Amino acid sequence: TELLLRAGRLADAVAQARDLVAEAPHGRAAVALLMRALAAAGEVSEALAVFQEHRRRLAEDQGIDPSREVLALHQRILRGEPDPVDARGRASADAAAAPRAPSVPPRPRARLYGRDAHLRALAGMLEPGRCVTVVGPGGVGKTAVAAALAAGRPGPVWWVDLAELQSEAEVIPAVAGRVGVRTLGGGRREALLAALRGNRGLLVLDNCEHVLGAVAGLVEALLVRGADVGVLATSRERLGVSAEQAFPLPPLQLPGHGRTPATIAEAVAGSPAVAFFVERAAAADPGLVWDAAAIRDVTGLVIELDGLPLAIELAAGRSGAIGFAELRDRLSGHLDLIRSGAARLPARHRTLTATLDWSYRLLSSEEREVFRGLAVFAGWFDLAAVDAVLGPDAAVVVPGLVERSLLTRRPGPGGTSRYRMLVTVRAFAAGVTDERERRRLEAAHGSWSLGLARRAASGLEGPDERYWAELLEAGLPDLTAAFGNALSADDTDLAAALVGSLHRWGDYRVRPDVLGWTDRLLSRRRDGWPPGVYLAAATHAWMQGNPRDGLDLADLAVRAAREQGLLLLEGRGHEAAGDLWLALGELDAAADAYGRAERAATASGHAFDALLAADGVLLALAWSGAPVAAQVRRVLDALPAVPNPTARSLSLYCVGEAWAGSDPPAAIDLLTEAVGIADGVGCTLVTSVATTALMAVVSRSGAYGANDLGRLAGTVRALVAAGNRNLLVTLLRNLSTLLGARGQHAAALELLAALQATAGQHPSWGDEAEALRAVEASARAHLDADAVRAARRRGSARSLTEAADEAVRALTGPDGSGPVSG
Ligand SMILES: Nc1ncnc2c1ncn2[C@@H]1O[C@H](COP(=O)(O)OP(=O)(O)OP(=O)(O)O)[C@@H](O)[C@H]1O
Ligand SMILES: [Mg+2]
Repeated sequence: TELLLRAGRLADAVAQARDLVAEAPHGRAAVALLMRALAAAGEVSEALAVFQEHRRRLAEDQGIDPSREVLALHQRILRGEPDPVDARGRASADAAAAPRAPSVPPRPRARLYGRDAHLRALAGMLEPGRCVTVVGPGGVGKTAVAAALAAGRPGPVWWVDLAELQSEAEVIPAVAGRVGVRTLGGGRREALLAALRGNRGLLVLDNCEHVLGAVAGLVEALLVRGADVGVLATSRERLGVSAEQAFPLPPLQLPGHGRTPATIAEAVAGSPAVAFFVERAAAADPGLVWDAAAIRDVTGLVIELDGLPLAIELAAGRSGAIGFAELRDRLSGHLDLIRSGAARLPARHRTLTATLDWSYRLLSSEEREVFRGLAVFAGWFDLAAVDAVLGPDAAVVVPGLVERSLLTRRPGPGGTSRYRMLVTVRAFAAGVTDERERRRLEAAHGSWSLGLARRAASGLEGPDERYWAELLEAGLPDLTAAFGNALSADDTDLAAALVGSLHRWGDYRVRPDVLGWTDRLLSRRRDGWPPGVYLAAATHAWMQGNPRDGLDLADLAVRAAREQGLLLLEGRGHEAAGDLWLALGELDAAADAYGRAERAATASGHAFDALLAADGVLLALAWSGAPVAAQVRRVLDALPAVPNPTARSLSLYCVGEAWAGSDPPAAIDLLTEAVGIADGVGCTLVTSVATTALMAVVSRSGAYGANDLGRLAGTVRALVAAGNRNLLVTLLRNLSTLLGARGQHAAALELLAALQATAGQHPSWGDEAEALRAVEASARAHLDADAVRAARRRGSARSLTEAADEAVRALTGPDGSGPVSG
């Protein structure tokens, strides 16, 4: 090696010295040779990295420091002094030489996913005399993007990887070594600036965040006085110099919400994040089978990983070792499940913990504390939430964490900002939080969450319903986390209060997922629960299609409220019972329960609840064929005092139902208005019932168009997605009538058979039962016996969801689209 070095065959010298070090990593002679060879080849930062690695190994394995010779060599390299051999061989190198042959940037990845637009934009920004900094979280792909850009440049490129530098003092030597400036000591900086300034090449400073000051100083000195060279930097935090243009690099685009793709090709085409995952997974385990479950799990995984390329690469690399579903389930608690032993990766990229630790170490202790604290938020939060949960001093630190790419920011309403931690970042932060700190944070977060739920519950009854609904929807990840934390901490009071305050919202937005929290609560031992828990559970039972259980729960709600003297909640218990009696077709009992609810609400001075209960009374009367005029008047008189979209749309719907038989055109107007209002505030419940009623009236009068069918299909899909069996059954019964009226007898009969097979708990009665009998009779009249049997067999083999899919297809498919008259 020494000979190769003397002969100036530097690449060979480096290769041979590397082999020597690989054989004897603790050997000082081999290490010294490698450092010298690298330094002579201009690879100063590598030479320094070899030293650091050597020192670390000695310390860890043998507990000793490097030899005096190696330390002296390190100092020499740092000062930029030429190798003794080098100095003899090339005396002229002392002067501020013209930049030598530029170093080769790392070979770009064969395929860079989802970065075409970013690369185009960046290429347009790179100009002589300008500095562009690619900024983003660790592992987002800054270096990969820079490598692709550098590879596409026509002119010279000097690539300097700063990742391994230990101090700011090493920056100038590393860059100078790269550029080939061999001047010593104090003059080196000036020589470097002079060498670069007049050159139209591109200087790439990769991974700057830990030596920002020195890099900023260099770039400022280079560009402020005018230079031809362009600078491309990558950093988790911007340099903060005047000539800099920061380019925030987002994670890879995620799959859109909605339907899971049917094939892996479709999934790959739909999202670069999925495409990258699939490439890495197939490389790790070529035998992978991409069935529907694997597609679903991978789609979920890349979302859970926030589309962060490094996280995707590490996770996908585990394919074959851990199943996707398991990886996905355990990820947030076990960040180190995703790791790699690949030597090709720098140490800080072998685990996500190491990647994040790199950023964490660069924080002050105050910033670290706030960073850990913010992990208590599960979703987007604003500064007011930070104030409330972490105290007023914490909010000051938040912008700094955004600048360091540890938080993501997006604009919120009214000029505010919202912040979020990537899932993996949050898992890291939780991992460095101790038990006591975590408990304290979760307690504060729990009270804040309850406050949010309560404010929203009352806001939802007022004129700004939409605002509060969106706020609650956005806060749902936090409310869910708060509920789970409360259960883990055995704080059943808090958990109960949370569910209770979400009852109305969950009812009107059809959220069995949230109302179903009550299952977890009620399975715990406790002497009685607050009425809100029983209310939520009763509504949940209603949605699940278990009206009998629901009635028992509504009764428990009434008793609990009465015992505690909570008249308003007692009324709500009666109201829930009314809904359940309606589902059972017990119209007198329903009218009676709603009547009690109305009296309780009026007595407690709650106009909103009183109107809702009055609506219920009206519905029960209308469906039983009783006179409705007086009750319609009560509802319409009460309406102006309750300026709330849901209350208004529910009332219009009930009046529409009341007039459906006697005045169809007026009913159609009211129901259409009800659908419009409910839809506008996302009130799924009223949208669904009013659409169903509208379709029933419209199909009876035969005047419907393609738009109506589209709306109907949309409502079916929404109810399937929401998991509301109760409303779905009602809607599908109407749909079966409609199909029959359109002459699609086989489809109508299939749907009917499916309903009879799956909807045992939902009795049909009155007009509805009669209509269904007519569907059956008409099908038998139009089809032969074999066709009837076949249709019934097909239908009864279907689940409710499958039946819904089939019905929508029959309604909107090629043979079903467009209005049918007659
Ligand atoms: N768009 C992409 N397509 C495919 N692979 C990518 C993409 N972006 C990044 N990668 C891969 O992900 C890994 C992490 O990327 P990279 O090293 O560029 O991250 P970084 O943002 O520079 O991280 P750090 O802040 O730690 O330096 C690398 O292995 C890289 O090859
Ligand atoms: Mg990087």
